[in-house]
Amino acid sequence: MTIQWFPGHMTRAKRQIEEKLKLIDVVLELIDARIPQSSRNPMIDEIIGSKPRLVLLNKADLADPALTAVWTAYFRALGHEALAIDASSGSGVKEIPAKARELLREKIERQVAKGMKPRPARALIVGIPNVGKSTLINRLAGRNVAATGDRPGVTKGQQWIRSGSELELLDTPGILWPKFEDPVAGNLLAATGAIKEEVLHVDEVACFVLQTLAPVYGEVLKERYGLQELPAELPNLQAAAEVLEAIGKRRGCLAGGGHVDYEKAAGVVLRDLRSGKLGRITLEAPNGQETFRMES
Ligand code: G4P
Repeated sequence: MTIQWFPGHMTRAKRQIEEKLKLIDVVLELIDARIPQSSRNPMIDEIIGSKPRLVLLNKADLADPALTAVWTAYFRALGHEALAIDASSGSGVKEIPAKARELLREKIERQVAKGMKPRPARALIVGIPNVGKSTLINRLAGRNVAATGDRPGVTKGQQWIRSGSELELLDTPGILWPKFEDPVAGNLLAATGAIKEEVLHVDEVACFVLQTLAPVYGEVLKERYGLQELPAELPNLQAAAEVLEAIGKRRGCLAGGGHVDYEKAAGVVLRDLRSGKLGRITLEAPNGQETFRMES
């Protein structure tokens, strides 16, 4: 489902999350391990404030494991706990309750010292659309409790979902908006399928992907698409469009008159990227480190 964000919408989403924060002990911030920066909300620190936070790098099955380790260390250095997971298969999900409780250790120790019996940690999942919130809620609950797809603004009574003996989740996640205003982030979000590519031009998104991948994954692209040659740098849209044209020719993406249908060719590249057919790829690295991001 496409969500059109506008300022009123963002204010409402922020207020809804702030209301839920009062009920919980720990925030589970879900991000996309392929684009850990661009899939974060630009105001996340302000919204969450000092609540303990576990950053969950979801879709780690599609991301480069070495870069996922770099990102996990990055978030820990920021003072959050961090964990790579794959909510679809459940990999890493079992560690969430223990990590959440670790974040609350001092609070729990204080409760025990006062003779109180510690209750399960209460958590809220927050994240941008399509990052896997519903999939994770269902996985933690061990059954289908969350409908996939987002419905911002729909309010209903809050319910707690039990996940084992250590964790309770609010049944409705907090829906955050991504960084639409940053053109690089916009392209990355479209490339990974977080925002509908119709918002952008699909062929431009595919060109952006080729520009981003060529320096690091050139051999992968050459092999997958049978390309004779591929420059290590595709300095502009024109150069990337030539590669997209070559891919279109190889894959028979033709329009009338034997011309390449760029949209079809773009669809091939984006489907391959999203389904992992190009391998496990992370499209950005933390600032100041080796990065795959192109200058916009
Ligand atoms: P949301 O609530 O945050 O909007 O996200 P949702 O759970 O609906 O997940 C969005 C898409 O991402 C779904 O695919 C879901 O299967 C997929 N997904 C979630 N977690 C993971 C993960 O860890 N790894 C991978 N590879 N995919 C994940 P979909 O194509 O929209 O639906 P479907 O194919 O599952 O039917």
